[in-house]
Amino acid sequence: MAISTSLYDFITDYLKKDTVSFHMPGHKGSKFYKRFGYHNFLERIMEFDISEIPGADNLFQAESIIRGVQEQYAMLYGCKRSYILINGSSAGNIAAVLASVNRGKQLLMARNSHKSVFNALTLGGIRPVYVHPEIVEEYGLSGAIPPSEIERLIIENPDVQAIMLTSPNYYGFCSDIKTIADIAHKYKKVLIVDEAHGAHLHFSNFLPPSAISSGADIVINSTHKTLGSFTQSAALHFNSELVDPYVLEDKLQCIQSTSPSYILMTSMEITAKILEQHGEILMKEWYDNLNMFYDRIQKIPGLRTTGKMEGIDWTKINLTMGELGFTGSELDKILIEDYNIYTELFTGDWLMALSGIGNNKEDYNWLADALEDISRKAISSGIKELKSKQKKAALTPPKQATMFEIPVEVKKVKLEDSEGMICGRSIIPYPPGIPLVCPGERIDADAITYIKALRELGERVIGISEFGEVIVGI
Ligand SMILES: Cc1ncc(COP(=O)(O)O)c(C=O)c1O
Repeated sequence: MAISTSLYDFITDYLKKDTVSFHMPGHKGSKFYKRFGYHNFLERIMEFDISEIPGADNLFQAESIIRGVQEQYAMLYGCKRSYILINGSSAGNIAAVLASVNRGKQLLMARNSHKSVFNALTLGGIRPVYVHPEIVEEYGLSGAIPPSEIERLIIENPDVQAIMLTSPNYYGFCSDIKTIADIAHKYKKVLIVDEAHGAHLHFSNFLPPSAISSGADIVINSTHKTLGSFTQSAALHFNSELVDPYVLEDKLQCIQSTSPSYILMTSMEITAKILEQHGEILMKEWYDNLNMFYDRIQKIPGLRTTGKMEGIDWTKINLTMGELGFTGSELDKILIEDYNIYTELFTGDWLMALSGIGNNKEDYNWLADALEDISRKAISSGIKELKSKQKKAALTPPKQATMFEIPVEVKKVKLEDSEGMICGRSIIPYPPGIPLVCPGERIDADAITYIKALRELGERVIGISEFGEVIVGI
């Protein structure tokens, strides 16, 4: 594709191609709404872009039609209250933390939390206590959070007021939320689950249980990632005895736009209606398509997946063709350039194809055909060697650094020059996707050496600019 000069041109060019989406958003294009008769919404999208005219309600004081959508979500998810978010799960995560932890107190949080959680720490003057996810040794990916660690850290840190976990994580690994909720409530702590990647779990009977049905106090869902609403729309579900809903509502209005998009909110309503009326059949189709797909790809020589193991949201299709010599990024490039297939992310020699409620059988067959073809060609042309993995295994990650206050004022410096400075933005090698240095931690010589070695091996490290700079406190 030629480099476009504008957003409009880029998207227009992209739409000319016949593509398949295994990335966000979950609706995968207009065919999903058309299937259920929402042509009017699609054709008159600009007319739906209204603001708070009389009768149109107000997101931050919802009394009529917006309240109706929120009540619909609360009913669907079986909780006391649900809130529409128009600034994504990012806004929900921040509001949930600010409503649950007082300034100066502590949040027990997964080390691999989304950056919005780190932003909440800065905004709220909150100190973190980190809990590390397990590494799933067989795949080298980050997995679930051990409940026993949660209990140990609560006991050791009396200032902890809430616990915040990501489940499912980027690769679909889910934590045992039921056990963790029981532990949290035994000590009267709030459990917040960033379930941005798992809005669909609540509707399936073949995936791990949803966090809201497992006893979490507050759950945040990016309905745009796997279900049918538009990008940037999301939902926050509330089921707590420990948090005041009015404080939460105040935090939500504090950090979200005062001009909520009625297009986003209508897409939330349409998604709720589709789930209510057709949820069962859609989940059955998703299940059947995935089963057909996994059956096919399990027979492909040189391809490995994390498969349908227990405790994993296997709608996220993790696959590697490392045995055939491909890194995840090489596979991603081949899928785009030769097969018009867009996947969600790659890390090391893994690639994650994110299926959504809008994918149909043809999409899965398209991807399976492509993977079969790639395997066949790689084998017939001789297998390349994948070197980075062995070399990476020989590197020893540095110990966790000492924690200081998270800097509010920051600047960029070259990684080489950052020794002794306080990190302002997480530095995260992928895989496994667990920050090596978190905001507020001192960057030491060992961390710099390790990060440089990873980058020289072509590993992906986020939190470093294309010019090799990191963000540090001033
Ligand atoms: C784990 C996790 N939480 C929260 C978010 C933020 O979600 P949103 O894009 O809806 O703001 C993301 C975004 O990718 C995420 O990966």
